[in-house]
Amino acid sequence: MKNILITGANRGIGLMFAQSFADIVNTVYATARDISNCDELKKIKNIEILELDLLDKNSIKLFCAEVKDIPFDLILNNAGTFQDEQMEETNLDPELWLDEIMINAIGPITLTQKLKENLMNGVDKKVIFISSQMGSIDDNYSGGYYFYRTSKSALNSAAKSLSIDWKANNIAVLMLHPGWVKTDMGGSKAKLEISESVTSMLHVIDSFDISKTGSFVNYDGKKLEW
Ligand SMILES: NC(=O)c1ccc[n+]([C@@H]2O[C@H](COP(=O)([O-])OP(=O)(O)OC[C@H]3O[C@@H](n4cnc5c(N)ncnc54)[C@H](OP(=O)(O)O)[C@@H]3O)[C@@H](O)[C@H]2O)c1
Repeated sequence: MKNILITGANRGIGLMFAQSFADIVNTVYATARDISNCDELKKIKNIEILELDLLDKNSIKLFCAEVKDIPFDLILNNAGTFQDEQMEETNLDPELWLDEIMINAIGPITLTQKLKENLMNGVDKKVIFISSQMGSIDDNYSGGYYFYRTSKSALNSAAKSLSIDWKANNIAVLMLHPGWVKTDMGGSKAKLEISESVTSMLHVIDSFDISKTGSFVNYDGKKLEW
């Protein structure tokens, strides 16, 4: 594999993906909102750090123009946000809700759509959306988390369409749940170390091909309910 694009690579799961893929690809294209604050990423030799804010349509447009001629073998849509903690169901802020849907669903999907030619020029033609089991409607037994759940459900729904629309182009699309992981988002009580989650997801990504396009799977490769 030659080139990989990872969004939200300055910390958490995205950073470990960047560090892990650096050993097996030619160039890791890593995005961050603030490229001046990427000390860990800058330690990687074969890395290009690029600015991208998924909340900002113009930032997505500028980013896609900047990478226009670069073939991507794999696009790893990892960046995401979780702003639900302080939200009561009687006091949902529509602006914050829309922002979360933009960052977690509309942003990654429109970004990926704009990068179709980059994928067509790559060899592997794989797209991964880091989703969440919290986006599963079947699996919702505890309620709450309106912003995050709906944003990841929307992501899954749109990514499923993309997988069908791009199957004829041989572009494979996977929705992948990383597990509950000890990051800023997952918190210290989470079950998995970042390394456990990423190591397991690397196997899933490696064995994933067009025959499995449109699947929603756990970090260990098991199929998840919608
Ligand atoms: N941790 C878990 O337990 C868990 C469980 C299920 C799913 N996930 C998913 O896994 C992915 C990675 O999560 P994580 O745990 O590594 O979270 P994290 O440590 O909070 O990191 C989130 C990353 O997303 C970036 N990001 C946030 N808002 C952005 C925006 N508007 N535009 C571009 N990038 C933005 C952050 O950049 P800044 O540093 O600039 O904020 C950061 O690089 C997310 O999609 C998340 O939903 C995580």
